[in-house]
Amino acid sequence: MNILVTGSAGFIGANLVLRLLDGHFAELQSIVHGFDGSQYAAQAATFASLNILGLDNLNDYYDPSLKQYRLRLIEAKAKEHPEHSYRFVKGDIADKALVDSLFEEFKPDIVVNLAAQAGVRYSIENPDAYINSNMLGFYNILEACRHSMHQESPYTGVQHLVYASSSSVYGGNTKVPFSTDDRVDNPVSLYAATKKSNELFAHCYSKLYDIPTTGLRFFTVYGPAGRPDMAYFGFTNKLLKGETIKIFNYGNCRRDFTYVDDIVEGIMRVMAKAPARSKGSDGLPVPPYAIYNIGGGQPENLLDFVNILQEELVAAGVLPQDFDFEAHKQLVPMQPGDVPTTYADASALERDFGFKPRITLREGLRQFARWYKEYYG
Ligand SMILES: NC(=O)c1ccc[n+]([C@@H]2O[C@H](COP(=O)([O-])OP(=O)(O)OC[C@H]3O[C@@H](n4cnc5c(N)ncnc54)[C@H](O)[C@@H]3O)[C@@H](O)[C@H]2O)c1
Repeated sequence: MNILVTGSAGFIGANLVLRLLDGHFAELQSIVHGFDGSQYAAQAATFASLNILGLDNLNDYYDPSLKQYRLRLIEAKAKEHPEHSYRFVKGDIADKALVDSLFEEFKPDIVVNLAAQAGVRYSIENPDAYINSNMLGFYNILEACRHSMHQESPYTGVQHLVYASSSSVYGGNTKVPFSTDDRVDNPVSLYAATKKSNELFAHCYSKLYDIPTTGLRFFTVYGPAGRPDMAYFGFTNKLLKGETIKIFNYGNCRRDFTYVDDIVEGIMRVMAKAPARSKGSDGLPVPPYAIYNIGGGQPENLLDFVNILQEELVAAGVLPQDFDFEAHKQLVPMQPGDVPTTYADASALERDFGFKPRITLREGLRQFARWYKEYYG
């Protein structure tokens, strides 16, 4: 079983590779198999030994030393698990020649595309990065999946492309919880527009070339060694420096937070069961295409979230007991690109994969605060 993970030095990608190396995928395969049917039964043995290729361009959108740290964790884990093979390539998914040659040589069975320019706010000032990585890069991945079908047998090409979409595709939708059946034609940032475009591109490739694809709309993923551009991490950095944190929309925002381990478990379950290929009455493929939300399903008010974060930062010893939080908080208006609420209806994931996120915000922020203390001292 050859698995290509793009964005493997990123927050979610690195956590995914770590869990794959742990052998958790073999367990999950049998759970998903037992839950639903037989799709991967014939290949069960191959899950016990994985060939993992990680690809990442290690860009400096945020501190690249965090990416190096995650790669070191992966290398250490790979040494503990000689039953799997792991290789990392530094490279860009926008580089078509590189992507094509990696597919040709590695022959992935499953591709998990997590490489992207993330972040809503950054997309307002730096649109080029989004077009390169999220549009051109994703197109290159789709094309390489298409051409993989024509490589020499016994390799039969990519059996499942799983890719990251985002809750941001719901834009300013007011009907909650957000369901994958809702219309998502009103993005409020270029980032959201690129993610919605990825879903459209994937549908087209599923239909035309019968490539099984699953898009996952992640909802505010957080955890240890996460992304410093996200609120929980940025707030922590600022509070530690004695700076004031800005709470947008005067705190009247709700976010559906999802702990990274829950996201990874969701991704792995989805990886193990591709949408089935079938033919329609016209003899052409019915697109083997799916979209799921992965979110905690319990949106938190931003002020409550900040309260929990500060309690856990104090408990972990990141901030002193007598830290004056009130003096370091500023309530400010909404900013462009942001949305007031995110709230996942993740019932389809539960129905099809028997899984729903279970880690509470307090538990998750506790893990983050402890990691922060250990990492930054
Ligand atoms: N973290 C979240 O809350 C969240 C929410 C919704 C969607 N997502 C999506 O999930 C995916 C992973 O997000 P993350 O939080 O781990 O972000 P991340 O920035 O930590 O990880 C993305 C990785 O991709 C790499 N990368 C970027 N462009 C690349 C390119 N052109 N070629 C090769 N590598 C490239 C980066 O160096 C980075 O290591 C992204 O697609 C993101 O848009 C994340």
